[in-house]
Formats: sequence, structure tokens, C-alpha cells
Amino acid sequence: MKTILIVGIGAGNPEHMTVQAINALNQADVLFIPRKGDEKVQLADIRRNIVSRYVTRAGSRTVEFDIPVRQTADRSYHQSVDQWHAAIAMAYERLLSGELAEGQTAAFLVWGDPMLYDSTIRIVERVKALGTVTFDYSVIPGITSIQALAASHRIPLNLVGKPVEITTGRRLAESFPGRVETAVVMLDGEQAFMAIEDPDARVYWGAYLGTSQEIIISGRLAEVRQDILRTRAEARALHGWIMDIYLLQKGSDFEE
Ligand SMILES: C[S@@+](CC[C@H](N)C(=O)[O-])C[C@H]1O[C@@H](n2cnc3c(N)ncnc32)[C@H](O)[C@@H]1O
Repeated sequence: MKTILIVGIGAGNPEHMTVQAINALNQADVLFIPRKGDEKVQLADIRRNIVSRYVTRAGSRTVEFDIPVRQTADRSYHQSVDQWHAAIAMAYERLLSGELAEGQTAAFLVWGDPMLYDSTIRIVERVKALGTVTFDYSVIPGITSIQALAASHRIPLNLVGKPVEITTGRRLAESFPGRVETAVVMLDGEQAFMAIEDPDARVYWGAYLGTSQEIIISGRLAEVRQDILRTRAEARALHGWIMDIYLLQKGSDFEE
């Protein structure tokens, strides 16, 4: 039997690595590091740095692999993601049959935590369902970008006793401010906050959290959103890529 460890490595700061994650990397014979076309060299370097800093076991090896690019032309969003996952599942299957011997353990290094807007777990399940490679797997949690955002702004995530919705830029309009008082927005390539017209809304924004380039801005949305827009565009032009997340909130702790 082969074993897979799906390891959350934190959201940018190598010190996000938990003791459990460090121990997991040191159990692995093979460390799989994904390379994503839209992520720049810096993210791959953070993963390599984690391996060189924490893996002390002799004899393990690192295998980097390219994540296939998602095709979007002439298909719905769901078709596009489904086909993309199928392509990644084939890549995983090749890695597990070609790079891992019977009885060996592999670790997948996953950004943040594997349960949050990440499909490694569902793709590993997909490979299992194919039935061509026999393996068992475990998941090791990591620090998410939501935790990094809240820590940098020194804020609790929720208002007292109230819910939080985690969503994407594409679907923000459905949730905030109509449905919830607190929304966390990830994967927002459109700056969906620009369309929110609520005078009470506050924003806590962060980019490159946990890294040496971290930027945070907070305040009343109407007052700071132009600043976020400009800062985001400048940072993206400077670094060639950006990863940002924000929390929108209205109301207060003890208000019904
Ligand atoms: C594919 S999701 C992966 C999330 C990851 N599994 C986690 O636990 O945070 C990528 C999105 O997470 C957010 N993100 C991840 N790391 C970040 C960071 N260091 N700074 C800002 N946003 C980050 C961004 O919204 C980005 O578009």
C-alpha cells in the first residue's frame, strides 16, 4: 500500500508550518511540489524553502510537477473546473504510479489549508475512484489565508454570536451586505468590493500575507476602496502577480 499525506503548509510565512506538518514532511519518501502557471517564482520558492528548512530526513526527494492550465473557452464554469480536475487527477495518477514505490509515502504540499478553496482532497479522491493505484491518505491542516488576514489586522473574524460567509469575488453580490454582516472574499480577480454600496461597510484587505511584501489596508469601504484599488494595481505591476483576500463587515458586536 502507498500512503499520501496532504499537508497544509500555511499561507506564505514559512513559520506557519505546524509541528504536525513538519513531522509529516519528514515521514515522506517523495515530496510533491505543484507549479502553477499563474503563480510566480516566489510561491514556488516559498515551497522549496519550506522543504530545505524543515526536511531533515535523509534520502527523501522532491518532485516538482506542473498543474495543467484550466481551459475556459466554450464551456460553463462547472464544466471547465470538472475537466480541469480530471486533467490534474491524471497528473496525480502518473506521479503516484511513476514516482512512488509500493510501501512508500508521498506528501503533497498544499498552500494554506487543504480544506479551503483547494481541490487536492477531491482530486485525490478522484484518483482513488479510478482504481488504478491503491493508496490510503491523511490530511494535515495548515494556517489559512483567512487566519493570516485576521491576525495581521488584529481582528476577530466574526461579530459576537454572528455568522461569517466565505465566498469568491464572483459571488460576493449574493452574500454581502444582504445576507450576512461578515463576508470573507477570496479569489477575487474583479475587485468585487468596488460594486458594494453600503455606507456602513468596513473592509480589512491584505495582499501577500505572511511574506516580506505583505500589504494591509483597512477602513470604511467608501473611504479606502480607491486606495485598495490603486495599491493592488501598483503591487501587481511591481511583482507581476498578486494574491489578496479581504473581509467585509457591517454592524457591531452587540447589535441585534
Ligand atoms: C486557491 S485559494 C487557496 C486558499 C488556501 N488553501 C488557504 O488556506 O488560504 C487562493 C486564494 O487564497 C487567498 N490567499 C492565499 N494565500 C494568500 C496570501 N498569502 N495573501 C493573501 N491572500 C491569500 C487569495 O484570495 C487567493 O486568491
